[in-house]
Amino acid sequence: MFVNTLPSSKTNLPEDLFGAIAQLKQDLNAVILAHYYQEPDIQDIADYIGDSLGLSQQAARTQADVIVFAGVHFMAETAKILNPDKLVLLPDLAAGCSLADSCPPDAFAKFKEKYPDHLVISYINCTAEIKAMSDIICTSANAVQIVEQIPVEQPIIFAPDRNLGRYVMQKTGREMVLWQGSCIVHETFSEKKIVQLKMQHPEAEAIAHPECEPTVLRHASYIGSTTALLKYIQYSASQAFIVATEPGIIHQMQKVAPHKHFIPAPPFNNCACNECPHMRLNTLEKLYGCMKNQEPEITLPESTRLAALKPIQRMLEMSI
Ligand code: 13P
Ligand code: SF4
Repeated sequence: MFVNTLPSSKTNLPEDLFGAIAQLKQDLNAVILAHYYQEPDIQDIADYIGDSLGLSQQAARTQADVIVFAGVHFMAETAKILNPDKLVLLPDLAAGCSLADSCPPDAFAKFKEKYPDHLVISYINCTAEIKAMSDIICTSANAVQIVEQIPVEQPIIFAPDRNLGRYVMQKTGREMVLWQGSCIVHETFSEKKIVQLKMQHPEAEAIAHPECEPTVLRHASYIGSTTALLKYIQYSASQAFIVATEPGIIHQMQKVAPHKHFIPAPPFNNCACNECPHMRLNTLEKLYGCMKNQEPEITLPESTRLAALKPIQRMLEMSI
């Protein structure tokens, strides 16, 4: 769907990549926003690292002229929706999201038609077109809180993640109509291997992201967004954790709790497919390249941007 833009064809890489990025940041008056699933080098050079809610809050308040978004396309798109006059750069335009792709706009429009009296709450992991068809956006950090603010008699469509939707239904006791989308990374964890790990490490607490399947969530003593998981491991008395989310977060966990032990939850097979292939398309080299060349840039039609802005603003107001 997107064009892969490799900087190396256009850009000679400097020896001190960290120093060169810091210099470009000053020259451009840029801010680097990074998600926890980015490679450690990118996390280390970012001005702000966070979950989707934190990143959109930062994007909403930044004074920088240029936003360099080290994350995936829907995240950078959200930053652009909030900042139409700023240059928003994504190191690799091909960094998409399987969950966002699982909800095509045409099919979603038809789905919505079946439930004309329903309010549409969409997880931020969706395209601008889906946001434009939604009433409120949520993230994994505020989904429960947002659904709880909706009057009980109001029926709700929740899209696109069925696992987060099911989790919110369970937490709030609300029935919702769910779009059947999912994330390839969070679906890959093996319940059997997590149970085996718990037996091998009885001292370890399993913690999970709500995008995981119910079969994995039922083994977790704590469920939350990436930021919530990062906070939890600091105040929990446990010294070891089995972490069922993309393992990029473990870089920050080790920084804030160096004496604790973090075991990435294993996928079904023996590959590294618990790493998000979209997030990991971004590299430090591509980050440098996009700042040097001031591309690839995120753009979107103004009519879509304006329609997508409303439900994002509603989320920001409801999350205070
Ligand atoms: P959060 O960081 O908001 O928990 O989201 C996880 C995720 O899958 C982002 O793509
Ligand atoms: Fe999308 Fe899943 Fe990757 Fe997050 S981890 S960007 S939801 S594919």
